[in-house]
Amino acid sequence: MSNGTYAKGLEGVIAAESSICKIDGANGKLYYRGYSIEDLVQNCSFEEVTYLLLYGALPTEQERSGFSQRMRAGRDLAPPILDMIRNFPKAAHPMQLLQSVIAYLSAYVEHVIQHGETCNCRNTLHQVVQLASVIATYQRFAEGGDYVKPRADLSHGANFLYMMHGEAPDALEGEIMDKCLLLHAEHGFNASTFTARVVASTLSTCYCSISSAIGSLFGSLHGGANERVIAMADKIGGKENVRAYLDNALSQKEKIMGMGHRVYKAMDPRAVVMEGFLKQLSEKKNDFHYYGILKEVQTVFRRVMEEKGKPIYPNVDFFSGAVYLLLGIPPILFTPIFAAARVSGWLAHILEQRSDNRIYRPKCLYVGPEARAFADIDKR
Ligand SMILES: CC(C)(COP(=O)(O)OP(=O)(O)OC[C@H]1O[C@@H](n2cnc3c(N)ncnc32)[C@H](O)[C@@H]1OP(=O)(O)O)[C@@H](O)C(=O)NCCC(=O)NCCS
Repeated sequence: MSNGTYAKGLEGVIAAESSICKIDGANGKLYYRGYSIEDLVQNCSFEEVTYLLLYGALPTEQERSGFSQRMRAGRDLAPPILDMIRNFPKAAHPMQLLQSVIAYLSAYVEHVIQHGETCNCRNTLHQVVQLASVIATYQRFAEGGDYVKPRADLSHGANFLYMMHGEAPDALEGEIMDKCLLLHAEHGFNASTFTARVVASTLSTCYCSISSAIGSLFGSLHGGANERVIAMADKIGGKENVRAYLDNALSQKEKIMGMGHRVYKAMDPRAVVMEGFLKQLSEKKNDFHYYGILKEVQTVFRRVMEEKGKPIYPNVDFFSGAVYLLLGIPPILFTPIFAAARVSGWLAHILEQRSDNRIYRPKCLYVGPEARAFADIDKR
């Protein structure tokens, strides 16, 4: 047992062993279960990557098809969930809805809290699948539409767009949406994943873990940078204003959204893929508004920071918001979509935690008063 080194925010502390995700921040590399993110994006669907994360190996054709059928069978929302979405306070953020839906869904499930293969959350999968359906339906209802039943012939990403817009996306848009989910599915011991594991370590249900993780992701220091990138681009307005905007923001010591990363000290490999998606969609729609501004921000910011000896690169959030906008997704849904993707990683970590569990119980450094005399109420 350690004699208790203090590390604020647990920075630098190794809190568990994990075989799910490797981030090579110095070289800008990301691997899920040993496979590079580039290979996975090129060759796999979100469903296959979910299988990989949960089972530790890529599926055979038979396993892929069985798993895919199970995931697709779980997409439809039950009437009580539809009522919940309809009746949820309109001013609430959809992350609050997601967190509540997961807790509600939990009541329908017989919880077998066991270890390894027999754990039922790998079988039910519906907390993984239903987040995307809930988000699509939230938006559908917000726009005054009716519930759109899922289609089992579409990928997870394409079906999400279908349920939201009421019409199936074309092949390119469906594929880009699916790959965006894949890119966000896992990223090591970030705050929400750690939250999920801490809750799992008490042998609570995976639903409790996931709703807690959603709460963690809701915080502005974790989710939401892509929303703020779009707000920044809107404030900039056009390419020609980039230089002045950056000079002003940096002189005020403001952080430029979507730039920099705690772990990556080279280009985030997910940002490279995202930029490709943004370029493809901008060309297809002949709409280069956000792409033009963001590329200019990237170029000018890089130049300014290199002059200061601080090379800072875009992270995954820099281009993702603009991709989502071109797919017809409003900014309020960006963080919920992050949750709908990351839920696969959360579940993989919950299972890993359970397979070799020890309840998390760090200590704190007490800095309060030493023992003192109790004062009666009339003497305080
Ligand atoms: C993610 C983040 C918190 C990492 O910060 P960090 O660990 O301090 O990053 P680094 O140590 O590499 O920073 C090196 C220097 O570049 C500066 N820097 C880093 N990111 C910057 C940004 N986005 N804008 C302006 N300056 C930045 C830091 O302030 C630091 O300057 P200093 O040496 O004068 O203190 C930070 O980059 C940030 O706030 N980015 C914007 C928010 C964002 O996009 N978040 C999503 C992350 S997925």
